[in-house]
Amino acid sequence: MTIRDLLNHKVQQAMLSAHIPFQHPPLVAPSKKSGFGDYQANGAMGAAKAMKANPRELAGEIVRHLELDGIAERVEIAGPGFINIHLSPEWLGERLTQAADDNRLALGRAAQPQTVVVDYSSPNLAKEMHVGHLRSTIIGDALARLLNFQGHTVVRQNHVGDWGTQFGMLIAELEEQLAENREAEMALSDLEVFYQQAKRHFDEDPSFADKARDYVVKLQSGDANVLKLWREFRAVSLEHSQEIYDKLNVTLTPDDVRGESFYNDDLATLVTELETQALAVEDQGAKVVFLQEMADKDGNPSPVLIQKKGGGYLYATTDLAALRFRANTLGAHRIMYFIDARQSLHMQQVFTVARKAGFVTDNITLEHLAFGTMMGADGKPFKTRTGGTVKLAQLLDEAVERAGSLVREKNPDLGEEAISDIARKVGIGSIKYADLSKTRTNDYVFNWDAMLSFDGNTAPYLQYAYTRVRSIFRKAGQDPALLSAPILPEAAEERTLAIKLLQFGEVLEQVAKEAMPHLLCTYLYELASLYMRFYEACPVLKGGVPDAQKASRLRLCDLVSRTLAHGLELLGIEVMERM
Ligand code: ARG
Repeated sequence: MTIRDLLNHKVQQAMLSAHIPFQHPPLVAPSKKSGFGDYQANGAMGAAKAMKANPRELAGEIVRHLELDGIAERVEIAGPGFINIHLSPEWLGERLTQAADDNRLALGRAAQPQTVVVDYSSPNLAKEMHVGHLRSTIIGDALARLLNFQGHTVVRQNHVGDWGTQFGMLIAELEEQLAENREAEMALSDLEVFYQQAKRHFDEDPSFADKARDYVVKLQSGDANVLKLWREFRAVSLEHSQEIYDKLNVTLTPDDVRGESFYNDDLATLVTELETQALAVEDQGAKVVFLQEMADKDGNPSPVLIQKKGGGYLYATTDLAALRFRANTLGAHRIMYFIDARQSLHMQQVFTVARKAGFVTDNITLEHLAFGTMMGADGKPFKTRTGGTVKLAQLLDEAVERAGSLVREKNPDLGEEAISDIARKVGIGSIKYADLSKTRTNDYVFNWDAMLSFDGNTAPYLQYAYTRVRSIFRKAGQDPALLSAPILPEAAEERTLAIKLLQFGEVLEQVAKEAMPHLLCTYLYELASLYMRFYEACPVLKGGVPDAQKASRLRLCDLVSRTLAHGLELLGIEVMERM
């Protein structure tokens, strides 16, 4: 149990004993300012107002019933009725020692493990992955890692766009290039170029355009030759994506791919069902669900197109089928979609139709976890200098290259092999951290210098902080894994650091609930900064430090380094011993 939960529970009990009705919450939170205790319970004021009582007196009543023996060393009332709780150093020390003794850092598992489906990355396979796919891939992966660590069953779903009219054109082009004796891997080595070729061909050659359209129909009806070409195209494109995932240290594997094509056979049934339920109606030859609950301000219902006039299905149709599959077959309790904010209307429509049709029951939560756009320095969506889309592969290579120059400059004595390993971790880490550390729902400006800086809330700063903590053990000639001494925080800086360390679990819970990884970034940054302050104020290896204190401080250092490494790992960022 986190400290906050524990104190909330204790204060709530005291409030009940003081005859304060249960509906008044204790409102325990970490104190914002030093001198006001470690935690504050702020519930007395609200309760007093509702009960028409004097808040300070009520706070006194609560404190009289508050049983924090062995937990707090002092409890005082401040201002109009704040209850300030000063935790006992021995109790803090015990909890820290427990965390240090445990390879899970004493972080609990979810009391009610869920099956969580996480839909992320999900690029369109017709083209190469570009920066537009970065945020979904990185943020989704961080949440998948965290939920998995908490003991949930995480089912990753890479809902790739591998079906639809574009593929007719692409397959027709592939067929022609293969006929010229080119191999699929060669022809598709640059998907961007291939797409341009196919598009030009389509625009300029009417007979090719007819063939492309014919291939769409053949694909839908399962023509063996067309399907074979489609499979080939799909496999090569998926390989490109997998390469990116591996480079990015993202946990997606080929097994997580369940693209739009997977649902193809279910779409006709789905439309029929929606018609039977009288949810879908015919409208000018097309099939549409009109949602009154999402009507515009003039009362016009929101139209959701599920089948085109010619019989073709749409993005929404596939998403409805996917939702039903996730609820019924995958047994999801919680379904999370990491998709650009620009698709909010689409997601809301899909969720609403799915609920109305009974595809998902009320106890399943559906979350569109929208994110903002990655911007260039000019404040417009990030593009190449000539205005093209930036390929992800190139962006990642550039990050590693830039990090390499930095590392070489800072530490020329490292061998080339070490430099390339560090450059990879720092470069990739920087891109990921720059994204994860921003509030998910906002746009942010992509900036190489800022993300690669060793100062401030960046990956290099945290990775460097980690190496600094670890260097103590080299200096001390100690293997931190063999330490077993109890921790006892004494100095003020030690105490602040101790409490921060013990708040790790609270932060992780909040991140998992709100899908807001920036909270974890802020936490790690603050932790590293508090460590620096502790290190300046509290000697560890210097002569004159009593043995027990030295052992306690070394263990505290160990806990800091493991917390940093674990937090970064949950974000998908690697650490190293030197940099
Ligand atoms: N392929 C889509 C795109 O590139 C994203 C798919 C997101 N997931 C979903 N279930 N709709 O925009």
